[in-house]
Amino acid sequence: MSNRGTPIDLEEPSLGHADTCAVTLVVNGEPRTIAVDTRASLLDVLRAQLGLTGTKRGCDQGACGACTILLGNQRVLACLTIAARHDGEQITTVEGLAHGDQPHPMQAAFIRHDAFQCGFCTPGQIVSAVGLLSENPDVDVNEIPEQMSGNLCRCAAYPGIRAAIADAKGAR
Ligand code: FES
Ligand code: FES
Repeated sequence: MSNRGTPIDLEEPSLGHADTCAVTLVVNGEPRTIAVDTRASLLDVLRAQLGLTGTKRGCDQGACGACTILLGNQRVLACLTIAARHDGEQITTVEGLAHGDQPHPMQAAFIRHDAFQCGFCTPGQIVSAVGLLSENPDVDVNEIPEQMSGNLCRCAAYPGIRAAIADAKGAR
């Protein structure tokens, strides 16, 4: 039996007609005021309305971690987070990590350790890793697998991912 799983549908889902409300989301430091469907997830809004497609839609049901973003300093799954409930809040996506041409130290560590294969899970892995070190700067490297267990990698690039996070932790 193939272990490749179900192909990922890259189409953005249509939510149909519903109520909308205005929200201001501070995305990567920039306030963005938009009308959102009251049922829309942050993943829907980031990808379909704000054009920030770095945040990936894997399972769309909280199981894979591909959609991980930071809400404040907290890691959250954008596919399970209703956008309308976060008016005025700070959101960081993978697009907001680098400073100009300078990659974020976690991005640089992922490159050094070749911590990806197809790259689909990588934005979620990197954002989650940044969140992990923000939550727990002194995390024991032996705890990294458990702390990152919400982020799946179908290419099984886990050794590189864990090495990159340990490297980035050491560089802090
Ligand atoms: S797309 Fe959100 S957890 Fe999989
Ligand atoms: S690099 Fe392919 S899913 Fe992780």
